[in-house]
Formats: sequence, C-alpha cells, structure tokens
Amino acid sequence: MKTPAHIAVTGAAGQISYALLFRLIAGDLLGDDQPIVLHLLEIPEAIAGLDGVKMELIDCAAPLLHDVVVSDDPYVAFENADLAFLIGAKPRGPGMERRDLLRVNADIFAVQGRALNASAKRTVKTLVVGNPANTNALIAQHNAPELPPENFSAMTRLDYNRAKSQVAMHCRCPVSEIKRVIIWGNHSTTQYPDLHHALVRGKPALDKLEWDWYEKDFIPTVQNRGAVVIQTRGKSSAASAANAALDHMRDWLFGTPAGDWTSMTILSDGSYGVTPGLMFSYPVKTENARYQIVQNLEINEFSRNRLQITEAELLAEREAVRHLLR
Ligand code: NAD
Ligand code: LMR
Repeated sequence: MKTPAHIAVTGAAGQISYALLFRLIAGDLLGDDQPIVLHLLEIPEAIAGLDGVKMELIDCAAPLLHDVVVSDDPYVAFENADLAFLIGAKPRGPGMERRDLLRVNADIFAVQGRALNASAKRTVKTLVVGNPANTNALIAQHNAPELPPENFSAMTRLDYNRAKSQVAMHCRCPVSEIKRVIIWGNHSTTQYPDLHHALVRGKPALDKLEWDWYEKDFIPTVQNRGAVVIQTRGKSSAASAANAALDHMRDWLFGTPAGDWTSMTILSDGSYGVTPGLMFSYPVKTENARYQIVQNLEINEFSRNRLQITEAELLAEREAVRHLLR
C-alpha cells in the first residue's frame, strides 16, 4: 500500500471543487492505487456547507479516501500538502472582466502563500485556479520564499482545452488529432491562442484552416469563452474548470504525451522576450514531474504583437498588487 498523498483544495465548498473532489477520490488524478488525504479549506461562513460535502465524500465509500481534514485556517489545511489546488476566490459575474477581481481576491493569495510556505511539504506543487489566476499565482509565489518558485503555476489549461475543441469541431476530426496548440500570456481576454505551430492530423493547422476563421472567429471565441459560459449558464464554468485542473496536474506529474505539449502558466524566465518574473502561459513539455518551456518556435509579427498585448496586461496587474509582492 502506498503512503497517502495529501491534497489541499481551497474554496472546497464552491462549485469547481464540487466537480473536482469526487474525481480525486475516484483516482482520476493519481491512479487507482494511490490513497489520498483531502485537506479542505473554506472561509468560516462556508464551513457548514463544507461539512455537508465531507459527508458526501465519506458516503462514497471510496477505497482511496483515507481521511478528510476540514479547516478555515490555511496553516492547518496546508499542513504536509503534496499538491495544492488554490480555487477559493470570488468568481466574476456578468459584465465583469477577470481583472476586476484583483482587489477582492489578491489578499487571499498573499495569506495562502505564507501558509503554504510555513506548512506544506517543501516539494508541494501549487495550481492557482481562482481569478485573476496568473497574478494570484504570482502573489502566492512571492509570499512563499522558501518553496521552489517553479512549483507555482496557474491555470490556462481550460483555455487550451477550449482551443483544441474549437479546432476539432471546425475540422470535424477527433480532439486527439489536434496537437501543439498554444495559449500564451494571461488567462483573460488578452490571451493569445496560437495555431501557428499546431497540427491537425499531423499536418500544419494553418495550411488547412482559413485565416479569416482563425483570426476573426477562433481567437475571439477562445478569448471570450469564459464570459459566454457565464452569460449562457448564469454561473462561471465549473465542471470544465475542474477537468482542466486535473489535466494540468496530471500532465505536470506524469508527463505530456509524445509529439505534443500543453500550456501552463509558470514564472517567465525571459523566454520569447517576455519580462522575467511574470506568471505567463507558455507551451511546455513535462517529464519526471518537471516542465520545460518549448523553445525556438518561430514568432511572426502577428504573434509578437499579441504576445506584447497580453504581457502588457500582466505588467499592469503586477503593478496593481506591488504591495503584496516581495
Ligand atoms: P464559487 O463561488 O462557487 O466557490 C468559491 C469558494 O471559495 C466559495 O465557497 C468561497 O466561500 C470560497 N472562498 C472564498 N474566499 C476564500 C478563502 N480566503 N479561502 C478559502 N476559500 C475561500 O466559485 P467557483 O465557481 O468555484 O470559482 C472559483 C474561482 O475559480 C473563481 O475566482 C473563478 O473565477 C475561478 N475560475 C478560474 C478558471 C480558470 O480557468 N483559471 C476557470 C473557472 C473559474
Ligand atoms: C473561465 O474562463 O471560465 C473562468 O475564468 C471564469 C471566468 O471568469 O471567465
């Protein structure tokens, strides 16, 4: 029997967590031979609801679930954590931009960064989902100076999955035939979903797709998908976000498939001319639980302009939270 993995989830009574937790205990992330201890964090007002979620988790009689810790104290919730999903934050409502959440949500990630620094395993891998995800991840990382900076990430995997599905639907082929899609930059409307290096059935995507569709339909569809889901469903995406969080962590831990890559928001090392130290979404390959940015991709003027737009937004967000950074 393996030693249990300790998985911390914040915002554990919220809608994304409700879609995530039951998949975690079913083995969808770590496999069906890896026991799990869940560490669930909520604000005091939501602890009663979270107790109900705990009851449901127990009622699954899931062989992998060894224990469930519920707390409103991040220092308790993050104790000994191997993996941390930082989901807890306010979602935007209709008409809001994700950056409007910065003032409301930024402090949460300073507190939680300090708590991870104090309580989690030194190897903890952290995925920030709560918006604005890139800058929240930057805040958490700055407040956890004793943890490896490369172990902090934010989620652009949902955008990446959305992009793949849009191409697959347009080409009428299975998603498994779409490879090497890239999401650059911020998880916001300035993100740049790039198909210049993508393959459809092994052939360059842009040789098959009409440029007009790419520029005028595909790019805005992916950039605005979150808002359109909010308008249509009345709430922000939840099951697809939980699914993307699992995909992100699974690829990080177990590696990207041969011949493909994924997109993860990680600390920029200056690759592709992006300001070092920003949390920026890059194409990455992963192996042995480490990622590497895919290098030497040709960036034409069209792409360079879009990279600069999304970088400028992230620089402005960083200025707005300067007081929370070290
Ligand atoms: P939700 O409102 O259903 O749940 C959020 C939960 O977080 C609530 O239960 C709330 O009590 C809790 N919370 C608030 N502050 C907290 C704190 N300090 N510590 C612990 N818990 C706290 O929201 P949701 O739909 O689950 O979305 C959560 C976040 O994820 C939002 O910010 C949303 O915008 C974001 N999101 C990101 C992506 C992405 O692709 N990166 C996708 C979807 C949603
Ligand atoms: C999404 O992309 O669905 C989430 O970030 C929610 C939002 O605010 O768009």
